[in-house]
Amino acid sequence: MSTTGVLLASTPTPRLSGKVALVTGGADGIGESIVRLFHSHGAKICIVDVQDNLGKQVCESLNDEANVVYFHGDVTVEEDVSHAVDFTVDRFGTLDIIVNNAGISGSPSPDIREADLSEFDKVFSVNVKGVFHGMKHAARIMIPNKKGSIVSLASVASVIGGLGPHAYTGSKHAVLGLTKNVAAELGKHGIRVNCVSPYGVATALSMAHLAEEERTEDALAGFRDFTGRMGNLQGVELTTNDVANAVLFLASDDARYISGDNLMVDGGFTSVNHTLKVFR
Ligand SMILES: NC(=O)c1ccc[n+]([C@@H]2O[C@H](COP(=O)([O-])OP(=O)(O)OC[C@H]3O[C@@H](n4cnc5c(N)ncnc54)[C@H](O)[C@@H]3O)[C@@H](O)[C@H]2O)c1
Repeated sequence: MSTTGVLLASTPTPRLSGKVALVTGGADGIGESIVRLFHSHGAKICIVDVQDNLGKQVCESLNDEANVVYFHGDVTVEEDVSHAVDFTVDRFGTLDIIVNNAGISGSPSPDIREADLSEFDKVFSVNVKGVFHGMKHAARIMIPNKKGSIVSLASVASVIGGLGPHAYTGSKHAVLGLTKNVAAELGKHGIRVNCVSPYGVATALSMAHLAEEERTEDALAGFRDFTGRMGNLQGVELTTNDVANAVLFLASDDARYISGDNLMVDGGFTSVNHTLKVFR
């Protein structure tokens, strides 16, 4: 291989050059990785979150004021999402991509008789209404442009039960339903609508089920060990970057004919069942 060939092979081609993206929940976890990856691929990005300090820190660390901005917005509030979309368009001229990533897991609730309906409402408000607000206000900009990519974070809990609280599982099935239905409406405008469904990744959300005093380095190692053993793909740990890569693919023109899809980032977890130990 020539030197140029080696250089070309090791330099990633920017896949979002000149594209404008809004990422909800971009201050931490998977969202932060999406922001960093999108930035490295040439996108202009507006981070929308409620954790102002973290959001501003992400912007500062990227040190690119012209292309990365933070907007305080709660996705459960339609006005906030509407203003965030308008702010992005004012700042960068348009909106090509929205990533509806903000989500919460809610409190563990192993007995339905004890289920707290206010907690249920809270989870649906962020995970379902928040995603719908993003879809609605992104569509307002994308329809006249006759193009756009809407990517939402679902979960392995979008297709099977038993992986989290009822509200969380119901909310993620709803994200998949919204993805298919909004893809059905927006296809005629050339707008693609997809979701991404990760297996367990060590973030604040997934660690939130541990008691505060147990959130130590050891607890993190324990979480990683547990998800590793329970997963299908062995010897590979799912990271926030793996999820970000899947989002990048769906957001970019590489996925120009993909819509209504739920891209599983789960190493085969939801496709196989090892209960009968045929292969283990
Ligand atoms: N971590 C996992 O194992 C996992 C697995 C499958 C799916 N997911 C999904 O991925 C997405 C990101 O999860 P994560 O693990 O990175 O979580 P995280 O808690 O690390 O980050 C979530 C971000 O969303 C923000 N957010 C929460 N509520 C908000 C609101 N009302 N308005 C605006 N921002 C808000 C938070 O401030 C935070 O910055 C979620 O939708 C989650 O359900 C996560």
